[in-house]
Amino acid sequence: MDFSLTEEQELIRQSARDFARTELLPGVIERDELQAFPKEEVAKMGELGFMGMMVDPTFGGSGLDTLSYVLVMEELSKIDASSSVIVSVNNSLVCWGLETFGTEAQKNKYLTRLATGECIGAFCLSEPEAGSDATSQKTAAIDMGDHYILNGTKNWITNGSSASIYIVIAQTDKEKKHKGINALIVEKGAEGFELGPKENKLGIRGSDTHSLIFNDVKVPKENRIGEDGFGFKFAMKTLAGGRIGIAAQALGIAAGAYELALKYAKERKAFGTEIANHQAIAFKLADMHTQIEAARLLVYKAARDKDEGRNYDLSGAMAKLYASQVAMDTTVEAVQIHGGNGFVKDYHVERLMRDAKITQIYEGTSEIQKIVISRSITQ
Ligand code: CAA
Repeated sequence: MDFSLTEEQELIRQSARDFARTELLPGVIERDELQAFPKEEVAKMGELGFMGMMVDPTFGGSGLDTLSYVLVMEELSKIDASSSVIVSVNNSLVCWGLETFGTEAQKNKYLTRLATGECIGAFCLSEPEAGSDATSQKTAAIDMGDHYILNGTKNWITNGSSASIYIVIAQTDKEKKHKGINALIVEKGAEGFELGPKENKLGIRGSDTHSLIFNDVKVPKENRIGEDGFGFKFAMKTLAGGRIGIAAQALGIAAGAYELALKYAKERKAFGTEIANHQAIAFKLADMHTQIEAARLLVYKAARDKDEGRNYDLSGAMAKLYASQVAMDTTVEAVQIHGGNGFVKDYHVERLMRDAKITQIYEGTSEIQKIVISRSITQ
């Protein structure tokens, strides 16, 4: 498979790299410490077209391919994974789902605002007792003819308080199990829709993660995405693409930590020479470089599969499984190479190590990816 980039893809990558260095880097430590949402930075990413990268320009998007999106995710994540997850959720889980399965009316009403970054979206699936086991959710939407009445609680919702448009996955007919689930668009400010507590997290602390409470929220029928009962498939299909974005995030975190470790190892002296000249460090760098390159090939392959119309359930799950493991391993080694400096915030690698962990958890844990992979290869 040919992964050589077009001139346009190179330019997009460079613009994301420049943006990350000039706009995201200066405040990243403070935002992490204060758990501050990157509001101004997200607005600028909207102007750059990063919030609706794959959306058709008719709806305000950039009309680019998945590989371009992956390149942007990688560059942003090298510097600030809190900002990149906001981009990822908006692009993969909200815009893509709406554009692919939404009605023209839904796209006209919501997609343009989301794709331009005028507002951002959230994808609400997880619940206290339904994270991995996505069919066991308790949030229920009762069919009232021309509308649903929605009740329940969603947990760990990325963009929880900053979103304006929420795609909520709810049971509409428990008897039908996964075929009795629907995806509903809920707007911020709907009566009975309340924000629960904000999570105090280990990593990606600049992104706001909340629980959401729905108390007799009236949702018009025209806000249902797809046919009745399509919600579980909608979630699975959307998450399959989302996993490519998170795989790219993991790749970026790993590559960011590696770049910092390499630079440090070439500058820092111990026992009379730069530490990169000690085999103990050089071998770590060799492993990191090899693993990152392998992860990159898997991530680009999954993106290419999606762009060229092939099934990407397997390649996306493999990319996420492997890249997130590489992110974890690489960031731990980057801290180790930095020694005492790696343990303090100014050197960035401790944050990248904390941020790496979530890539093994959200949009399906590593164990879930193994379920998807093993089912694909054995069935
Ligand atoms: N595409 C289309 N359809 C799919 C599909 C896919 N990728 N995966 C499953 N389906 C369909 C199946 O074909 C089946 O439909 P039929 O009955 O018509 O054949 C139906 O969905 C049920 O499939 P399964 O029997 O395989 O479902 P399951 O209950 O065994 O679950 C699972 C499979 C892979 C474990 C799934 O539950 C899963 O992915 N769980 C993890 C959920 C997850 O990723 N949660 C993360 C929350 S969102 C998040 O993290 C966002 C964030 O904050 C950043």
